[in-house]
Amino acid sequence: MRANTLRAAMATARMAVSSLSSPARALSSAAAAPPASGVSMVQGASRGIGLEFVRQLLRRSDQGRVVATCRAPDSAAELQELRREHAGRLTVLPLDVTDESTIEVTGAAVGETHGSLDLLINAAGILSIPNVIQPETSLSKVQKSSLLLAYEVNAVGPILVIKVAITAFLSAPNCVCILLITALCLPQCLN
Ligand SMILES: NC(=O)c1ccc[n+]([C@@H]2O[C@H](COP(=O)([O-])OP(=O)(O)OC[C@H]3O[C@@H](n4cnc5c(N)ncnc54)[C@H](OP(=O)(O)O)[C@@H]3O)[C@@H](O)[C@H]2O)c1
Repeated sequence: MRANTLRAAMATARMAVSSLSSPARALSSAAAAPPASGVSMVQGASRGIGLEFVRQLLRRSDQGRVVATCRAPDSAAELQELRREHAGRLTVLPLDVTDESTIEVTGAAVGETHGSLDLLINAAGILSIPNVIQPETSLSKVQKSSLLLAYEVNAVGPILVIKVAITAFLSAPNCVCILLITALCLPQCLN
């Protein structure tokens, strides 16, 4: 990803966290904004937009707790550093959106530890993976396997997480906000 695009994404994450009351009101006029002292879960948190959401949520209050997920928590150096800095407030758990068993195990662990969530953010997604999937620049380079993989990770996976979350911990009355950040790789190839 180009540096200026990433900077813009970070700014968006900062603005979204600092104005959480607005999207929450838009989703439910009856619900209060997610409390700064509440519990948030961010998936796709090892880098990029998800990591910045984790940082901003931890900064927002010294009371709020955050659950961060990615496929390989032990290799997520920046997340582990944040976990040490914010002792007791950040939990890092494994979750692969293409593997339903990891969604179920982590969902059950979150439900057991926290009971319910106030905010669920999905920032897990792929745009390119070396030798597997490249951002297409023309229709002639489009490959069915790349499109299907992007659809599985960027669209199907987040819905499966919400499905498990609804059962495990989102049915509590204080869940007020689900935020999905995603993309499918069509726009670039249609030029
Ligand atoms: N950045 C932008 O300007 C921008 C703009 C529009 C849309 N988006 C979309 O927003 C989403 C996040 O973008 P980003 O720039 O933050 O991407 P990124 O820096 O590449 O981070 C992607 C995150 O998704 C996780 N992830 C990838 N595959 C996964 C899987 N199978 N299961 C669970 N987690 C997985 C990665 O974790 P691990 O690999 O460590 O598991 C990583 O934490 C993407 O869908 C992207 O297309 C981004």
